[in-house]
Amino acid sequence: MSKHSNIPFLDLVTPHVELEQELTAVFRRALLTAGFIGGPMVEEFEQAFASFCDVSHSIAISSGTDALRFAIMACGVQPGDVVLTVPHTFIATTEAISQAGAFPEFVDIDEHTYNMSVEKLQLFLEGQCTRDTFGKLISRRSHRPVTAIVPVHLYGQMADMDGILKLADKYGLTVIEDACQAHGAEYFSKRLNRWFKAGSMGRAAAFSFYPGKNLGACGEAGAVTTNDAAVSTKIRTLRDHGQVKKYFHDVEGYNGRLDSMQAGFLHVKLAHLAQWNEQRREHAARYSQLLSGDESIACPYEPSWSRAVYHLYVIRTADRDGMIQHLQEAGIGTGIHYPVPLHLQKAYASLGHSAADFPVAAQVASEILSLPMFPQLTAAQQLRVVEQVARFTSGALQKRGVAAEVAGISAEQTA
Ligand SMILES: Cc1ncc(COP(=O)(O)O)c(C=O)c1O
Repeated sequence: MSKHSNIPFLDLVTPHVELEQELTAVFRRALLTAGFIGGPMVEEFEQAFASFCDVSHSIAISSGTDALRFAIMACGVQPGDVVLTVPHTFIATTEAISQAGAFPEFVDIDEHTYNMSVEKLQLFLEGQCTRDTFGKLISRRSHRPVTAIVPVHLYGQMADMDGILKLADKYGLTVIEDACQAHGAEYFSKRLNRWFKAGSMGRAAAFSFYPGKNLGACGEAGAVTTNDAAVSTKIRTLRDHGQVKKYFHDVEGYNGRLDSMQAGFLHVKLAHLAQWNEQRREHAARYSQLLSGDESIACPYEPSWSRAVYHLYVIRTADRDGMIQHLQEAGIGTGIHYPVPLHLQKAYASLGHSAADFPVAAQVASEILSLPMFPQLTAAQQLRVVEQVARFTSGALQKRGVAAEVAGISAEQTA
């Protein structure tokens, strides 16, 4: 065991200690006004989050999963439709598709970004789809109409949206972003010659505010963002039992509202999100620099069109499980996001997929490892993490020492 204190994978306590007074004030405001559901705290947060994402509408929802389900439904996906997504994501992505009455079908990921491969998407649309007599795009696999794409901005980096949107336009498909891990991430569109925030490029997007996310609530929470007023109105109706006004129900809906206290907590934290994201980016740059000499490790790849917000810092290495054990023994927390790709999960056994159907996702899942990443992580903690990684991969210590010098971090800082 290390003589140092443990390094957690994630520290959720420190930001709450730092913001304790403001968060307690939110709790008091809710208690003293008995404003627990809806009301000004929710509306104020919705406006602030819409402005943060550069969109005209944000609708607060009870979770990211419900946000994605409502977004899919409100964008016109019909029960029985096929929605294309990736196998390398959290299962909530496909649960939301299924809960909307649609069927997920998979497109493999890009080997470097771990997000949807535009090339594979094109191959799927060209080679595995056909048109029926009405001109509808039909999946050859399931004989169902393909109507939408859900790219996932995994680990805080946006998928290659120009390529995805171009294919969506060509094939008449709706794009709904799963931005649950990407609050504040940005994408440079060559087509439109400017930067876009996550959640502002698709017809709608879903965010999760699960406590461990870059913007996390003190419980369950989510939101949809959109520039489409009609989609926004539909989602507001769906989240509130299909009501257009109290006890007047246009459709059957859901109880998918966000508690006002959670909205208040999120509003307090939103003021710090840009700075926290910047700290994450600095930590990521430092990790990548320190690890750069070790050829047995692949660091995250950030293309020039991406400004990632490193919800997770994920490396790839052949003996992933051995490294996890070594780091655990050294008191360093890690994670795997995610160990089994969706096409190989028991929940989707009925689809009859094998690893070879989406080989990149299958390979990546066996090699990825998430290192400690949170805004309050210190340079000294990072150096200790990298030292232990290097000790495990062996032989890379000297090279890493050079990299540490370049990064301006001395070994004494670990004392
Ligand atoms: C990629 C992705 N999609 C969807 C979700 C679902 O969000 P929630 O847990 O808030 O329902 C999550 C969060 O865990 C996620 O990481």
